[in-house]
Amino acid sequence: MPDNPRILVDDDTRVLVLTGAGVSAESGIATFRAAGGLWESYPVEKVASPEGFDEDPELVWRFYSERRRKARTCEPNPGHRALAAFEARLGDRFLLVTQNVDELHRRAGSRRLIEIHGRLFQSRCAHCERAPFDDDHAYDAGDPPLCEVCSTAGRIGMLRPHIVWFGEMLDPSHLLRIEEFMNAARTHRFVFLAAGTSGAVYPAAAMVDRARLHGAETWLVNAEPAENTHRFHHFVEGRSGEVLPALLG
Ligand code: OAD
Repeated sequence: MPDNPRILVDDDTRVLVLTGAGVSAESGIATFRAAGGLWESYPVEKVASPEGFDEDPELVWRFYSERRRKARTCEPNPGHRALAAFEARLGDRFLLVTQNVDELHRRAGSRRLIEIHGRLFQSRCAHCERAPFDDDHAYDAGDPPLCEVCSTAGRIGMLRPHIVWFGEMLDPSHLLRIEEFMNAARTHRFVFLAAGTSGAVYPAAAMVDRARLHGAETWLVNAEPAENTHRFHHFVEGRSGEVLPALLG
């Protein structure tokens, strides 16, 4: 690996990027699995599963309200901005898939963006089919919020954060869009880049294998080796806010 690696792109190149919590670490947002990470302070099955929500919706809302309050005070960092600038160069030859719900990619200007684990600043009804809606409210005191659509119809429906919890399916339309991008990329130069993710959560952690099946050259940028590092062609160890601007510059 050269000292200052760069991902070279030409007019033929397609780039698919997967990001995780590490990309937002330099913005001040806690990752999940580090010592002191979110899953050390909160029992994941209680705050990030449908069963946990059924059991104690107030605790779940306290957790996500705290995260909403924190994320509101954070700003995109040079890693987010490098990806948005890269998209501006490549246009439809670029797609960003993020596991992050903090919406910092969106705020940095990324538009060809799939937020596969949901959005922190959206809520939806846990009971009716109403579409997810923008919601930056922190509901940490008192009863969990109720759905107005259900109330109008004489039912009780509880609002929940628009997050994909453990045991829940990813949106099939998201998976289809990723697969279509890979299928279209296979007859071109195809680069897959993952950044700031421990490679512990599937199906995101298997995207590198899907990309390789489609002929991609694969890169990982992470502060430490991830669980799936050996499945990438290139590993750049470092902070994404420093590495991405140089790698994509
Ligand atoms: P993790 O917390 O599992 O991993 C974050 C990775 O980022 C770790 O490998 C860190 O070493 C690395 N890292 C930390 N700071 C970094 C930096 N400045 N630059 C580059 N890398 C850095 O987070 P994810 O892999 O995103 O799901 O976790 C995947 C999913 O598990 C999350 O989306 C979340 C969680 O349960 C849901 O909440 C649905």
